[in-house]
Amino acid sequence: MSANSFSTLPQHIAIIMDGNGRWAQKRHMPRTVGHAKGAAGVKALVESCAEKGIKYLTLFAFSTENWKRPADEVSTLMGLFVQYLEKEMGALAAAGVRLKVIGDVAGFPAELQTRIHAAEVATQNNQAITLTVAANYGGQWDVVQAVKNWQAANPSADVASLTQDQLAQHLSTVGMPDVDLLIRTGGEQRISNFLLWQAAYAELYFTDVLWPDFDQAQVDHALHWYAQRTRRFGLINEQIARI
Ligand code: IPE
Ligand code: IPE
Ligand code: MG
Repeated sequence: MSANSFSTLPQHIAIIMDGNGRWAQKRHMPRTVGHAKGAAGVKALVESCAEKGIKYLTLFAFSTENWKRPADEVSTLMGLFVQYLEKEMGALAAAGVRLKVIGDVAGFPAELQTRIHAAEVATQNNQAITLTVAANYGGQWDVVQAVKNWQAANPSADVASLTQDQLAQHLSTVGMPDVDLLIRTGGEQRISNFLLWQAAYAELYFTDVLWPDFDQAQVDHALHWYAQRTRRFGLINEQIARI
């Protein structure tokens, strides 16, 4: 439990950005238009979270399961990611944003991998906010890769000695606090293999608003809701009152 886990402002917000396809289909447009509209709003969201003092924002952009979508939709999503890194990263970097990409990036086209790496290196010392983009990410993948990396780093260690803290050191989110507030837009109430380990004690905020419509007022609404939650982490209320 980190020092300000009980704070009314989340340190770490994670968002499942769902509903782009339905947003476009409601307007009789191709699903890809919804993805473009959804991506266009991300920059303002990151900047406003940084202004509010939120230190970590993690966005689910593409799941390990999303490869099963039609090929043209998958390539549009890849293209948007490249465009985003090309167009918006300069402004975000200037605003103090540190970019990190988590997920199995080796599965991406080489050009995209190069751009991701360049953007991560260029922003590694920025401190206003850490923007983590989960791409080709799955919570189950993350736990398995952590176990493999732990073993590679400790070849002679007995797995019986492995602790939760040690394994967490090999998760893709190493160095970040656990998720305080997990938001899912688009009406579904499920995790869809996002940050399974890191969201163990997250407050879950589900909204019917589709991702392209999730604006500043919606963020404020989620933050207000979060501020009213009582987080107990297994304790009882009387103990929390003393913290
Ligand atoms: C979320 O929107 C974006 C990705 C999964 C990449 P969807 O594309 O899932 O939109 P809906 O859920 O079909 O409306
Ligand atoms: C979750 O949305 C993944 C992302 C937002 C990237 P999905 O649209 O893929 O989730 P399901 O399939 O409805 O669970
Ligand atoms: Mg969806």
